[in-house]
Amino acid sequence: MNTPYDGHFAARSAIVTGAGSGIGRCLAHALTAAGADVVCADLDLAAAQQTVLAASGPGTARAVALDVTDAEAVQELVDSVGHLDFMFNNAGITFGGETEDLTLAQWNAIIDVNIRGVVHGVAAAYPLMVRQKSGQIVNTASMGGLMAAGLITSYVMTKHAVVGLSLALRSEAQAKGVGVTVVCPSAVDTPILDKGYIGKFHGRDYYLKGQGVRHPLAPEVFADEVLTAVAEDRAMLVTPRTARIAWRLGRFFPGFVQRSSIKFVAKQRKLQDKRVKKALKSAA
Ligand SMILES: NC(=O)c1ccc[n+]([C@@H]2O[C@H](COP(=O)([O-])OP(=O)(O)OC[C@H]3O[C@@H](n4cnc5c(N)ncnc54)[C@H](O)[C@@H]3O)[C@@H](O)[C@H]2O)c1
Repeated sequence: MNTPYDGHFAARSAIVTGAGSGIGRCLAHALTAAGADVVCADLDLAAAQQTVLAASGPGTARAVALDVTDAEAVQELVDSVGHLDFMFNNAGITFGGETEDLTLAQWNAIIDVNIRGVVHGVAAAYPLMVRQKSGQIVNTASMGGLMAAGLITSYVMTKHAVVGLSLALRSEAQAKGVGVTVVCPSAVDTPILDKGYIGKFHGRDYYLKGQGVRHPLAPEVFADEVLTAVAEDRAMLVTPRTARIAWRLGRFFPGFVQRSSIKFVAKQRKLQDKRVKKALKSAA
């Protein structure tokens, strides 16, 4: 197979968290196809095992149960690998809807998985990579880590933290032989788009239409872009092109983007109200 990252991952070791679904699964598959030996870690062991079953070589894959909110378990997993070339801190969750409907338990859950989960991966893998004088940490953030979209407010907060952590760490890590890459996609076509809605908000349609996304990225395509960015040791991957344009616009015209964001929220509320009215009508 010809890829822009040919040879880069052959016989290298990698851990992918959240490997039981979506982006993590596609990352694991792309890595094994590129020759890496991959630990597919997920809260859902059966899902991680499905990832392993569908993986094809020349690399290898094994599944482990891992809760990234458990710092000791993450440390144990990293220790068990020995030499670690790539740590993909990818597991994540989301909540979509009005922030007043978010419970404190949900705030804590998203902080625990999306921020602490990444911190645990970094705290376990980075000192090892510093000792090795080699390795790469790859954190999955989001466009939500670069721009402030409403109705996913808690998610946006966590992903901004992941971007900040990654870019700051990169500036420390480079002189120690360790790379850090943060990936920021807009919508990717995975099960996460169907999860985590609170209050009256439901379904990927309201989110995608409200955000003006016609076609979410295919996770296989995104995984390929991630491995290319990692092989090139890029600081950040922002994708697709429309996301890069929006992000740059936001840097030059923050007021314009804030106003657009308010419009997106209004549009999403309207779409959702229509959906609720329709459901009530058909139930009557
Ligand atoms: N799909 C998108 O539109 C999109 C866009 C930007 C960023 N992201 C980010 O990409 C990452 C992967 O998301 P996805 O779209 O593949 O979602 P997904 O829901 O398909 O997969 C997430 C995986 O993480 C696992 N997970 C959840 N909590 C965990 C925990 N505590 N410990 C270990 N594993 C856990 C789940 O079991 C699941 O297998 C997330 O960080 C997400 O925020 C997704």
